[in-house]
Amino acid sequence: MTPRRPRILSGVQPSGKLHLGNYFGAIRQHIGLQDEGECFYFIADYHALTTIQDRRELSENVRAVALDYLALGLDPERTAFFRQSDIPEVTELAWILSTVTGMGLLERAHSYKDKIAKGISPSAGLFFYPVLMAADILIYRSNVVPVGQDQVQHIEMTRDMAGSFNTTYSRVFPLPEARLDKAPTVPGLDGKKMSKSYGNTIEIFAEGSALKNSVMRIVTDSTPVEAEKDPDNDNLFALYSLFADDAEREALAARYRKGGLGYGEVKKMLLARIDAHFAAARARRKELERHPSIVEDALRRGAERARTEARETMRLVREATGLR
Ligand code: ADP
Ligand code: TRP
Repeated sequence: MTPRRPRILSGVQPSGKLHLGNYFGAIRQHIGLQDEGECFYFIADYHALTTIQDRRELSENVRAVALDYLALGLDPERTAFFRQSDIPEVTELAWILSTVTGMGLLERAHSYKDKIAKGISPSAGLFFYPVLMAADILIYRSNVVPVGQDQVQHIEMTRDMAGSFNTTYSRVFPLPEARLDKAPTVPGLDGKKMSKSYGNTIEIFAEGSALKNSVMRIVTDSTPVEAEKDPDNDNLFALYSLFADDAEREALAARYRKGGLGYGEVKKMLLARIDAHFAAARARRKELERHPSIVEDALRRGAERARTEARETMRLVREATGLR
C-alpha cells in the first residue's frame, strides 16, 4: 500500500493587508508546499473575532486575503482553501479538546502573555485561542503545519492536546509537526521585525507611489555616498537580499564595502525588484477582483472538501468519547 501523502495544514488570520514579512515568512512556504502533500489552508475568521468586531471590516479582510492567496499562486484544484467558519464542527472539537487540556498549559502561552503585557483586557476567547487552533489542526488529522516562529508554541500545545485525547480515549489524532521556512525574520522600514502592529510594513500588493513611498521610508544610517558601508548591518540590504540570488547579493555587498554607493540607489534597485517579483500576482489579483464568483466558488469547493474530512474526524471523536 502506498503511504498517504502528508497532510499539510495552515491558517492565516484576516487581520489586514499582507506584507513582505508575511510573504517570506509564511505565504511563500504555503504556496510552495502544494506539491509536497495534501494541503488544507484556511482563513481564520473565527480567530479574527478576538480582535476584529466590525462586520464590514471582517468580511472585507476575508475577501482581501482570499484574493491575495489566489493571486500569489494558491491553486484551488490542488489545495482545499476555505473559510474557517464554513466548518462549524471545528468549534465542537475545540470544546471536546478543552476538557482534556489543563489550565496550566493555556496559562503558559506566550502569545496570550504578550497580549496581556501590552495591556489588552483579554476575552475568554483570547485565552481559549490555542484550543481552537489545536482543533483547526487536528480536525483534518494534519501531519505538518507550516508557520512562522511565533506559532511554534501553539503547535507544541496542539501535540499535548492530541496526546492527551489519544491516551484518555483512543488514538484518533496523529501528532502534527511545525515546519518553519528558512527565511529569517524580515525587517520592517525601521529595522524592527516587520509587523502590521508596528506600522513598518511594505505591503505585497502596494504599487506605484504608495509602494515607492514605503521603500523611500526605509531607515538607513547617515553614511555619505562615498563612504564604505557595512551590508551586514543594514535593513535595506536585508530586504534586497530577499529578492536576490547569492551572486547578486554578493555583488551588492561588494559595492557596499567599496564605497561610492548611495542608499537612494539601493532603494531604487529594491523597488524594481519588488515590482518585478509581484507583477504577475498583481495582474492576477486585478483579474480576480473583476470575477468575484471565481473566488467564492474556490472557497465553497474548498469548504466542501474540508467539511467531509472534518465530519469523518468528528465521527471518530464522538465514537471514542461515547457521545452519540
Ligand atoms: P503581523 O505581525 O503583521 O500581525 P501575523 O502575526 O499575522 O503578522 O503573521 C502571519 C504569518 O506571517 C506568521 O506565520 C508569521 O510568523 C509570519 N510573519 C509575520 N511577520 C513576519 C516577519 N517580519 N518575518 C517573518 N515572518 C513573519
Ligand atoms: N494563529 C495563527 C496566526 O496568528 C493562525 C492560525 C489559526 C493557524 N489556526 C491555525 C495557523 C492553525 C496554523 C494552524 O498566524
